[in-house]
Amino acid sequence: MPDLNPETIDRLVEAASEVRDQAHAPYSSFTVGAAVVDAEGRIHVGCNVENASYGLSVCAERHAVAAAVSAGGQGIEGIAVVTDTSPPTPPCGACRQVLVEFGDFPVILANPAGERIVTSVVNLLPNAFTPDSLAKDQE
Ligand code: THU
Repeated sequence: MPDLNPETIDRLVEAASEVRDQAHAPYSSFTVGAAVVDAEGRIHVGCNVENASYGLSVCAERHAVAAAVSAGGQGIEGIAVVTDTSPPTPPCGACRQVLVEFGDFPVILANPAGERIVTSVVNLLPNAFTPDSLAKDQE
């Protein structure tokens, strides 16, 4: 898994911090911003969008992935997730599964206080069910 350079990490954290301000989180008041970088270096963002029918709420990470795919982004090379918690919180289980669909890449967890944790998709979701798992003839 290639590392992200420090400049890209800074860009991702800044983009995730900015989009966090757009979160629609009237029920939890827990706002999350996420930013992914694609193989061309383009950044795509998403925030959490909650719903009065609580179960329909969608996490920031999944919105950022959907934005990248919708923009034609080929491959995801990293993601930053910003929450106002200390330590910064990692993605939920559902989002980990959505991330691993696109392989293993760095995951930067950050908060407005400047704390950063760098981990990876596979570190967050070992032994995942992936597109390879669908192959019928595995040894
Ligand atoms: N949330 C995210 O956006 N990402 C996560 O990985 C965990 C949780 C959102 C969903 C909900 O709007 C709020 O945070 C509280 O769970």
